[in-house]
Amino acid sequence: MKDLAGKHIVLGLTGGIACYKSAELCRLLIKAGATVQVVMTAAAEQFITLVTMQALSQRPVATSQWDAREANNMAHINLSREADACMIAPCSADFVAKLAQGRADELLSLMCLARPADSVPLLIAPAMNREMWSHPATQRNLAQVAADGAVVLGVGTGEQACGETGDGRMLEPQELLDELIAFFQPKVLAGQHVLVTAGPTYEAIDPVRGITNLSSGKMGFAIARAAREAGATVTLVVGPVSLPTPRGVQRVDVRSASNMLAAVTEKAPVASIFIATAAVADWRPAQASEQKIKKDSTSATPELSFVENPDILVALAQSPRGQSGELFCVGFAAESHDLLANAQAKRLRKGVPLLVGNIGPATFGQDDNALLLVDELGARELSRDSKLALARKLIADIAVRIRARG
Ligand code: C5P
Repeated sequence: MKDLAGKHIVLGLTGGIACYKSAELCRLLIKAGATVQVVMTAAAEQFITLVTMQALSQRPVATSQWDAREANNMAHINLSREADACMIAPCSADFVAKLAQGRADELLSLMCLARPADSVPLLIAPAMNREMWSHPATQRNLAQVAADGAVVLGVGTGEQACGETGDGRMLEPQELLDELIAFFQPKVLAGQHVLVTAGPTYEAIDPVRGITNLSSGKMGFAIARAAREAGATVTLVVGPVSLPTPRGVQRVDVRSASNMLAAVTEKAPVASIFIATAAVADWRPAQASEQKIKKDSTSATPELSFVENPDILVALAQSPRGQSGELFCVGFAAESHDLLANAQAKRLRKGVPLLVGNIGPATFGQDDNALLLVDELGARELSRDSKLALARKLIADIAVRIRARG
C-alpha cells in the first residue's frame, strides 16, 4: 500500500526559484499514491510553466478565481472541498504575509482562506532569501499563520540562488514528501520520548582492524521514523552505518558497545520507551592494540582473546525506571531457527515486557521483514511487509501497551 494512497493533495506554488523543486515534489506525491491538483500564482508562473506542472500532475493547473470552466464559477470552494491537505511549496515571504492577513485577491490565497480549516489542513514550506527569512516581519507572519492553524515546515540551510548562504532554502522534495506522510500518521506516541539503538557495533582489534556484523540498521531506522511520525521525540543511537537520518530524529553515532552503552545511559533518563534493535557485539577483543599489529616473518600469528560486552538492554530493563515500567523496554531477537521458543526465552532472560523476534540472516540488509511479538500472554505475528510498514504496526502496538499501562 502506497503511503499517500487515496489522498488528494492541492499543491500550491508561489513565486520563488524553489518552484523548480516543486516539479519533483509533484512526481513524488504521485508516486506515493496521491492525486495532485496544482494551483499556481501569477508569480509562480514566472518560475515554472503550467505545461510542466500539468504534465506531471496529469491535470490542468488552476490559476484563476475567474475560471469560467468551473460550473459554479467557484474554483476556490471546489478545490478546497476536494482536498485531504493543501501544501504550499514554495511559500514566498509575500504569500506568508497574505496568509497572515487573510487576504484573498487571487486564487491560491482565496482558496486557503475559504478552506474548511478543521478538515483540510494547510502545510506551508517557506522558501526565500536568508534576510527575508530572518526579517521580524516574516517571523511575525509565520508565527501568526501557525497560530491560525497552519503547519509551518522548516527551511533548509545552505547556498541560496541569490549567491548568499544561510537559512531560507525550501526543504528538498523528499523531505517535504516525508513531512506530508508523517502528517497523516496517527499521533499515538505524542508526548513520549523514544530511545532506539540500531545497527552493528564495531569492536577494535587495532587502529585499522575490528570485528563487526552484518546488521544494516534498517529496522531500527524504520522504527525511529515511525515513532517520530507517531508524534514522539526520538533519539537514535547508531553504530557504524551510513543510512540517512529520518527527519526530526536526533541521531547519536557511536562505534563500540561500550560507546553505545554510554550514549544510551546519557539519554535514557528522559526516555519513556527504549527499543533495542542494535546487533551489539557480544564480545570485544580483551585488549585492542594501540598500534597496528604488523605481519612480518618473525612474529607469530596473533591470538585474540575476548571479554564480554555490557548488555545494554539488560542494563536498562534492570534499572529502577525499567523495573517500575516508567521506561518501557522492548528487545529484539534475531534468530536462525525456533523463533518462538528462542524469543520467549530471551524475553525472560532480558527481563523485558515485549520482545520482537525475527529470522536474522534472512532479514539483514533487506527492505522487508516479518516480526513475532512476544509478551507474557503469548505471541502475535506481523506478517511479511516492508520494514517501515512493520515499524508502524509495532509502534501502534507499543502505543496500546503504553496506554493500557496508564
Ligand atoms: O542476546 P542477544 O544479543 O540475542 O539479544 C538481543 C537483544 O538485546 C537486542 O534487543 C539487542 O539490541 C540487545 N542487546 C544489547 N546489548 C548487548 C547485546 C544485545 O542491548 N550487549
